[in-house]
Amino acid sequence: MKRSITILSLTAVMIAGIFFAQQTSNANGTIPKQPTFAKDIAPIFYKSCAECHRPGEGAPFSVLSYKDVRPWAKSIKEKVALKTMPPWHADPHFGEWANDRRMTQTEIDMVVTWVNSGAKEGDPKDMPPTPKFTNGWTIGTPDLVIPMPETFTLEASGPDEYQYFTVDPGFKEDVYVQSAEARPDNRKIVHHIIAFIQPPSSKPKYDLSKYSKEEIEKLRAQMEKNSPTYREGFLIRTKMDAPVTDDGCASPAGGKLGRVDRGQDMENGQLLAGYAPGMNQAIWEPGTVKKVPAGSKIVFQMHYSKVAGSVQKDCSSIGLIFAKTEPKKLVRTFGISNNAFLIPAGANNHRVTACWTTKEDIHIVNFMPHMHLRGKAVEYKAFYPDGKTEILLNVPEYDFSWQTAYYFKQAKSIPKGTKIMVTGYFDNSTKNKFNPDPAKQVRYGEPTYDEMMIGWMDYTTDNERAKNTTAMK
Ligand code: HEC
Repeated sequence: MKRSITILSLTAVMIAGIFFAQQTSNANGTIPKQPTFAKDIAPIFYKSCAECHRPGEGAPFSVLSYKDVRPWAKSIKEKVALKTMPPWHADPHFGEWANDRRMTQTEIDMVVTWVNSGAKEGDPKDMPPTPKFTNGWTIGTPDLVIPMPETFTLEASGPDEYQYFTVDPGFKEDVYVQSAEARPDNRKIVHHIIAFIQPPSSKPKYDLSKYSKEEIEKLRAQMEKNSPTYREGFLIRTKMDAPVTDDGCASPAGGKLGRVDRGQDMENGQLLAGYAPGMNQAIWEPGTVKKVPAGSKIVFQMHYSKVAGSVQKDCSSIGLIFAKTEPKKLVRTFGISNNAFLIPAGANNHRVTACWTTKEDIHIVNFMPHMHLRGKAVEYKAFYPDGKTEILLNVPEYDFSWQTAYYFKQAKSIPKGTKIMVTGYFDNSTKNKFNPDPAKQVRYGEPTYDEMMIGWMDYTTDNERAKNTTAMK
C-alpha cells in the first residue's frame, strides 16, 4: 500500500523533474550539473546504503543496480535530504563512532542534484565494482553456522511470542569468536534474535526434569506470587503494584527488581550475537574476541511478531567467524538497566536512570541503548573518580525501529571507580505516534507494549586476556 502511493507520487515528480532539471542543480564546484548513477551515485550508495539495501536484506529495494534504484529516486531524495536515511541517531557533539553512517553534505547535495537533474544512469562502464556479500552474511563467510535446532511454526493469531531454543554446538575446547551474526530466516515474523552463550558452569536454578508438568505449573505459580513479575503467555511482565524506582542512580537497589529480564542474566550467559532492524553485526577488532567456553550451549531467544491470518515458519541461525590471530582481549557484554520504573499514563518526558560503577579499568567498545516504542531519548554519561564528567553518547531522538550499536572509533578507556549513568526519557503521551496506548501506565516487560531501559555495552579489561588458543581455526 505504502509502496503504491510512493510510485504514484513518483510519476508526478518525474514530470516535474524534467521542468526543474535545469534550474535546480546546486553545483558547488565538486558536484557536476548532471551527476550520473554510474559515476557519482553508485559509489555513495555502495558505501552508505548497500549494507541494508541489497537483495535478501530488510530494506525495501536494492541499490546495486540502476534499474532497481530508479523507481525510488524521489523517495531517496527526500530521505537523504531529511537525513532519515541512512539511519543514524547519535548526537555528533559527543563521541566519534567507527560506524557513523552519516553522509557528508557534499554526498547529500550530490544525491539531491542527481535526482533533480533526472536521475540519469550515465555510462554503465563508469560503474564501480559491485560490493561483494557472501551468501547474505554481512560478516563474510562464517566458519560455523548454527541454526535453530528445529523449524518453528508460529500460529496466525495472538500476541507476540518469545521462544527459546537451545543448541549444543559441541565445542570440546574454548572457542574464540572474532565476529558473530544472527540471521533471521523469516523476516516477516522475526522481530529480534538474541543468541546467548550458556556456559556449562551456569546451572539452572531449578532442575525441572524431576517434576511433572502439573508440578512445574504449581511451582511456577508459587514463585510468581512472591515475584515482582508474572507470565503472560510466553512473555514476562512486571506487576503493576511492584515497588517503583525511576531514579535508579539515587536508590540503593539501583532500580532493580530481582530477576526480571532473562536477557540480562549475565552470570548465566553472555550475549553472542543479536539481530534487530538496523542493528550492526558484532565485529570486533582483530584480537578482541568473545570467548565461548568448552561445553557451552547456545540459546536462541526469538521474539516473533505474528502475520495476521497466516501461519509462518522460521529456522533462523547464527554465523561465527573464529579468531584468526592470537586472541588478546575478551569482550564482555553488559546491560546497565532499570527494571523498576513506572511511566504514568500520558507522561510526555518521563525520566528513568540506571547506574553502574566500574570495579576495574575498562575499555568500552560500543554502546547499544535499548528501549521500546515509548523510548524518546537516551544518554550515557561518565562520572570520573576525579570529579569530572563526560557525556559518552547522546541519542536525542531515540527510534525503536533502529537498534543501533554505536562503535567507538577508538575504544573508550574508563578508569576503575567511574560511575556510568544511563538516562532514558519516555514519551507516553498521544504526541508519540508509536505509542500503543497513552491511557496506560507502563512498566518493564518483554512485550513491545511494555517498556525497557537497558544501556548495553561491550567492553574489554586489562586483566582478562584470552589464554587457550587451541580452538582457533
Ligand atoms: C541500516 C540499514 C539501512 C541503511 C544503511 C540504509 N537504509 Fe534505507 N531503509 C532501510 C530499511 C529497513 C527501510 C524500510 C523501513 C523504513 O522505511 O524505515 C529503508 C527505507 C528506505 C527508503 C524508503 C522507501 C520507501 O518505502 O519509500 C529509502 C528511499 C531509503 N531507505 C534510501 C536509502 C538510501 C539512499 C540509503 C543510503 C544513502 C539508505 N537508505 C541506507 C534500511 C537502511
